[in-house]
Amino acid sequence: MLAVVPPPVTVRVPSKVNLHLSVGDVRDDGFHELTTIFQALSLTDEVTVAAAEEPGVEVFGEGAKSVPTDEGNLAWRAVRALAEHVDRAEDIDKVGVVLRKGIPVAGGMAGGSADAAATLVGLSSLWKLDLARDELAQIAATLGSDVPFALYGGTALGTGRGEELVPVLSRHTFHWVLAFDQRGLSTPRVYGELDRLRADGDPPRVGSHAPVVEALASGDPKQLALLLGNDLQAAAVSLRPGLRRTLRAGVNAGALAGTVSGSGPTCAFLCESADAALEVAAELAGAGVCRTVRVAHGPVPGARVVGGDDAP
Ligand code: C5P
Repeated sequence: MLAVVPPPVTVRVPSKVNLHLSVGDVRDDGFHELTTIFQALSLTDEVTVAAAEEPGVEVFGEGAKSVPTDEGNLAWRAVRALAEHVDRAEDIDKVGVVLRKGIPVAGGMAGGSADAAATLVGLSSLWKLDLARDELAQIAATLGSDVPFALYGGTALGTGRGEELVPVLSRHTFHWVLAFDQRGLSTPRVYGELDRLRADGDPPRVGSHAPVVEALASGDPKQLALLLGNDLQAAAVSLRPGLRRTLRAGVNAGALAGTVSGSGPTCAFLCESADAALEVAAELAGAGVCRTVRVAHGPVPGARVVGGDDAP
């Protein structure tokens, strides 16, 4: 008798930008206490999870060569974590994962976290596990601070190390231009640099997140632009001084404001409209301050199965 092989499942998953990122003290577990507002952006990865004779991860697209395909790959760790959660650890020998990267690697846009979140959704669908998103989010939090947000998407307030989420009302769509740098930045290194800057002096800190929540509810990009803030920006710029020039070039090109995304080095520029974003992107691409430029909008939903019967 022929075994029935389930069809592959493809999941689209968003990147994120932090509209507000306040970094507090280092905790005993080495993580920093955060208050952050995430927005999910239309710059996405696509992750296919399938029954396979050869288990493992394959990677294509943006920065694929620098993504590990061994046990260190966060998507593979997601396969293992979900399989263990449902007592099917032996079945991972029959799972293959293909990542199609649109999100820059080590770019501060949670690309690795997105792939892990998408893998949780994809494997859960492939194996017909019917797990609630909240249950997947608990597994997600064990994989990385940004993985739960990639599951939910939208706009959310994150606390703890970023994994405790509450949705934030965001009216209208915001338009962004993203400037990718030549190379990635290591997140632990950027947090370490912030600790060093703080030990040496008192770099300015972002204020309260409350005005950002109000600006999101109003839907006015000009109001939001005045409030973008990221405590990691000083550290990212200290490690990659050229980012100062990139940030200036985006504003000179007509963006309302620019910010380093998360731990960087990607810079995100908020624009007044979709048309304005296209103009800013064209001008920034010609300014020679970054490797490549993309436009994106947000908020968008979290990891979702695309096509097939499982599509929402
Ligand atoms: O959770 P994630 O694996 O994305 O974190 C990567 C690294 O970023 C951590 O090992 C830690 O050095 C730093 N980090 C932190 N505080 C956070 C989140 C991340 O110090 N809240």
